[in-house]
Amino acid sequence: MSLNVLSVASEAVPLVKTGGLADVVGALPEALAAHGMAMTTMLPGYLAVTATLGKKPKVLHKWESLLGEPARLLAGKIGISSGEGHALLVLDAPGLFAREGGPYGDATGRDWADNWKRFAAFGRAAADVAGGAVKGLSFDLVHAHDWQAGMALAYQRFAPAGPVLPSVITIHNMAFQGHYGADLFPALGLPPQAMAIDGIEYHGGISFLKAGLASASRITTVSPSYAREIREPGFGMGLEGLIRARESEVSGIVNGIDAAVWNPASDPALKAPFTAKALGKRAANARALEAEFGLEKGDGPLFIVISRLTWQKGMDVLLEAADHLVGIGGRLALLGSGDAALESGFHAAAARHPGRIGVRIGYDEALSHRMLAGGDAILVPSRFEPCGLTQLYGLAYGCVPVVSRTGGLADTVIDANLAARLAGVATGVQFDGVRYQTLADALTRTVQLFREPAAWRRLQRAGMSADFSWGNSGKAYADLYKSLTVKP
Ligand code: ADP
Ligand code: GLC
Repeated sequence: MSLNVLSVASEAVPLVKTGGLADVVGALPEALAAHGMAMTTMLPGYLAVTATLGKKPKVLHKWESLLGEPARLLAGKIGISSGEGHALLVLDAPGLFAREGGPYGDATGRDWADNWKRFAAFGRAAADVAGGAVKGLSFDLVHAHDWQAGMALAYQRFAPAGPVLPSVITIHNMAFQGHYGADLFPALGLPPQAMAIDGIEYHGGISFLKAGLASASRITTVSPSYAREIREPGFGMGLEGLIRARESEVSGIVNGIDAAVWNPASDPALKAPFTAKALGKRAANARALEAEFGLEKGDGPLFIVISRLTWQKGMDVLLEAADHLVGIGGRLALLGSGDAALESGFHAAAARHPGRIGVRIGYDEALSHRMLAGGDAILVPSRFEPCGLTQLYGLAYGCVPVVSRTGGLADTVIDANLAARLAGVATGVQFDGVRYQTLADALTRTVQLFREPAAWRRLQRAGMSADFSWGNSGKAYADLYKSLTVKP
């Protein structure tokens, strides 16, 4: 069965990315095409997005006033590994999206004050598209991602533009919910009954994520473990009650990775491409990486980190454990940006350990590939992790993941305990609870494993043979869409 799916999101590679959400939204159309589904992606018209549409983009629709702003719907193409690309819809509303800075905030990282209006308007427009308000466009299902797309489903439910489509919302991160004051409610243009406990109301205010979760036909998140975890207060972040109430309609589908982009055998960013059979070639990548980060050669593992530098990612605990990492013979190359205190903390650690710790503050896609190819182990000590992609990239590149046992990290890495090692299935190191001692112990265990070259190679090869391409997860989404659209 072929279905037309409208995927609504605030970022997608290769056009705009702040994190894994973009990788996933960018990969889904291709993953679903393999199952006969036609997915159209709808994005806000940030400058970086409209710039790709050429001088005379095709205009599909015009709104004189979308929450007070003039707007247009433009047509384009998006695609990474696919030649021709997949259908793209862009909400061109210059008053809301055409500004310098990031998708959610200015260059200093401060959220845009009108984010409520930006993503409410985006949701209103998506609901109009889903409801058939745009001539020539018709869909069978809406798939919304995260709080920025949540309002699309609330508008569909409470103020539809036409027939209401079945819908899925995917939670990529429960920590971001889009909360605003109730005083904004009148400006949203929703009927009064939407401001209710089973609608968009949240503790007296408005929650865009809750609006989506309460209105969707089905809720997914990006790993089975996280789907269980968000039933509990620590992970549900206030929405655990809603998740529990809808438990039978919540499921976890682990993210895949785009095998055409993340393949060490054909990666153009690498000094020396390699396969699981020729792991010796990783050495040339390691030497290049050491040179790039100003690191000495060493007989212990070269740990890498590619991450937002935030509390979620456990980066404060890693910083505490940095001296221990060096003390047991490890080296560290870190690429990331985020909290100012963590950025300066890692700079200070590098200054304390010249030649052993190298730090790059910033965002650098090509460097991230080179790090995966040259590093021995990738550290992901997250306090919570809905899925996590960098450990999957690590697996694919023979860069052994060292991860906390939570969310997608728990579901995608097999700890090198005795049983797993005897069975030959271990792919990494896991530890419970993100604290100095648990992380320090995991680092020590990793260094010990690294000092057994045959065992270490087995870990690398087992990881490289694990298939985390989109095959299985694409099918899981396709099955979910079908189950929601089959007519009785
Ligand atoms: P999250 O979305 O929570 O940040 P994920 O692991 O799902 O975590 O996705 C992060 C994505 O962003 C990955 O593709 C990762 O490689 C990339 N990334 C994060 N920080 C950087 C950086 N400083 N430079 C390059 N890529 C980065
Ligand atoms: C979020 C999560 C991350 C997940 C990504 C893509 O950013 O923090 O764990 O991999 O979304 O689903």
